[in-house]
This record gives sequence, C-alpha cells and structure tokens, in this order.
Amino acid sequence: MASAEPAGPQPGILEEVPPLARYLVFRRAPGTGGAREALEALAEPPPPNAGVSRVIGLGSALVRELGGAVPGLRDLLPASGPGFTVPSTPAALWIWLRGEDRGDLVHETRRLVRRLDPAFRLDDIVEAFRHRGGLDLTGYEDGTENPTGSAARAAALVSGGGPGLDGSSFVAVQVWEHDLDRFERFSGPIQDHIIGRRRSDNAELPDGPDAAHVQRTEQEAFDPPVFLLRRSMPWADARRAGLVFVAFVRRLDAFERHLDRMIGKDDGVLDHLFRFTRPVTGAFFWCPPVRDGRLDLRVLDPVS
Ligand code: HEM
Repeated sequence: MASAEPAGPQPGILEEVPPLARYLVFRRAPGTGGAREALEALAEPPPPNAGVSRVIGLGSALVRELGGAVPGLRDLLPASGPGFTVPSTPAALWIWLRGEDRGDLVHETRRLVRRLDPAFRLDDIVEAFRHRGGLDLTGYEDGTENPTGSAARAAALVSGGGPGLDGSSFVAVQVWEHDLDRFERFSGPIQDHIIGRRRSDNAELPDGPDAAHVQRTEQEAFDPPVFLLRRSMPWADARRAGLVFVAFVRRLDAFERHLDRMIGKDDGVLDHLFRFTRPVTGAFFWCPPVRDGRLDLRVLDPVS
C-alpha cells in the first residue's frame, strides 16, 4: 500500500525532554495470545486531548516471539566486578510517557494498561521530572555534549536498513539510584572530579582524572567518535532518587562501548560515578518508526 509520508522517528526521541514523565515497563503475560493485536492498538497515537505523548520500545524476546526481524536488537549483558554491578533486566515493552500534568500521565497509564490487557502486564512505573531546566539531582547539567540537529539524527536513527527499519532507533535504559547523602559528603572539588566538570559554570576540568565520568565517556575520544543521543531524566519515589539514563542510538554497540569504558573493561579504570550511584535496572529496546502518524510495525510480520 502506498504511503503518503516517508517513515520517520517517534517524535519524542528528537524533542526536548518534557517537564514530567513516567516510564512504564510491561512483561508478556504467560500463556496469553493477542500480543500482535495489542501492539496494533498501541500503534495509534494517544488522543490529542490526552495531554501526553509517548515513545515506545519493544524488547528482543517479544520481537522474536512475533517472528519479527530487527538486526542488531539484543539484550544488555550483565556485568560485575570490584565496585560495580550492571544488571540486565529485559522486558517486553517500554513506554516513555511524556507530559506536563501528572494527572494526564496517570490517566494515560490506566488507558494503556487496559489496552494491553491481557497480553501484557505492567511491571514497573518510574516517575521522572525535569530538574531546574536539565540538571541531574547532583546539580550537574546533563546533556551538554549531546549531538543536535542532523548529528542527533545520525547518532540515534537507523538508516540504510530498508523499509520498516529506517527511522527506527534503539534505546538503552538504566535506572540509576543515587546515594545523595554520600555524594554530599564529598567536598565540592571532589564532586567536580567525579563528574569531570565544574558544577558552578559547567566547564570541563582541564585536569580531570582518568576516572572522571566525562573523561570515561568523551564521545570524540573514540576513533571514530561514538555519539549517543541522551534523553535522561531525574526520578524519585517516596524514599529513593536518581537518574533514568536513556540513550537513543542507531546501533546498540555505541552504548556498549561507552559502558565498557565506564566499567574499565580495557584499562581497569572504574568511572567515579560508581562512588555514589549504581544501576538497578538495564535493558535494550527497539523503537519502531512512525508512518502516517502510526507506529510502523511491518518488520514484525513474517514475510509471506
Ligand atoms: C547516574 C548516571 C549518570 C549521570 C549522573 C551522568 C551524568 C553526566 C553528566 C553530568 C555529564 C556532563 C554533561 C554532558 O555532556 O551531558 C555526562 C556526560 C556524558 N555521559 Fe553521563 N551520566 C550518567 C550515566 C551515563 C551512562 C550510563 C553513559 C553511557 C553508557 C553516559 C554517557 C555519557 C556521555 C557519552 C557523555 C558526554 C561525554 C562527552 O562527550 O563529553 N552517562 N553524564
């Protein structure tokens, strides 16, 4: 069937981080059918008066179960060593609900849970927000070195993959839990050395240690450079808080290479971030493209 518009990314990937968000994680309910039909219902955007938008990602086991083929989609490998643990917590569906009004997020969540029942069950909700225009809860600006414009598209979007894949994206998602009391016990200069930037003016430290976070993850230090489109947001519940790290990439190895540097895979130098924060979840998803305003799910349909 001819399409009026070429496929493009889910808009929220390239847009600014919203004031409020909810991350919803669903699992497949065992012994139930109807997954493909439920996804079809999800392909429709939310009603215009819902006050929310969303980015949707599919996990590798779900894509496999449906007989689809998304080259490069896989699960995050867990890792651990002295001073760090990187868990892998794969899931069937990831939905980044974006809005400005918490009530709208609550109502859209209820609508989605109903639409996806009984094929998918809601496993987790993480409440996220923008802090002072784009700061991590430590007070450091997050996203400074993000690519923008055509560089953002090049970093985040699949191209040359063919219909159904072009305009899609892969996403790496990790909920990091901060120990803010511990962070606040470090002196200001030590805090700056952990991040590798000065909190007061966001300038990169000329003498940042090898283990400073921005030394570990400097995108241009790879040969060739490895860019991520980061769209992370602070999160909190009644007792805990941290950062939901979210990076959209055209290939998952872009994220893996940064993570390998953070855990010192080659040189044994562990990112100083692990001195006060740790990932408590971690998963990869594939974010289908959009065509004519709907998710384009054709790669899930076996070729006849
Ligand atoms: C608690 C978790 C994290 C926190 C609080 C954090 C915070 C920051 C901050 C404050 C910056 C400097 C400003 C900027 O360019 O955005 C930064 C840069 C960066 N971070 Fe993270 N980050 C976290 C996790 C990660 C993870 C898991 C990765 C990738 C595996 C990552 C990749 C990067 C990259 C690529 C940069 C830009 C470096 C450059 O090119 O200068 N970060 N992060």
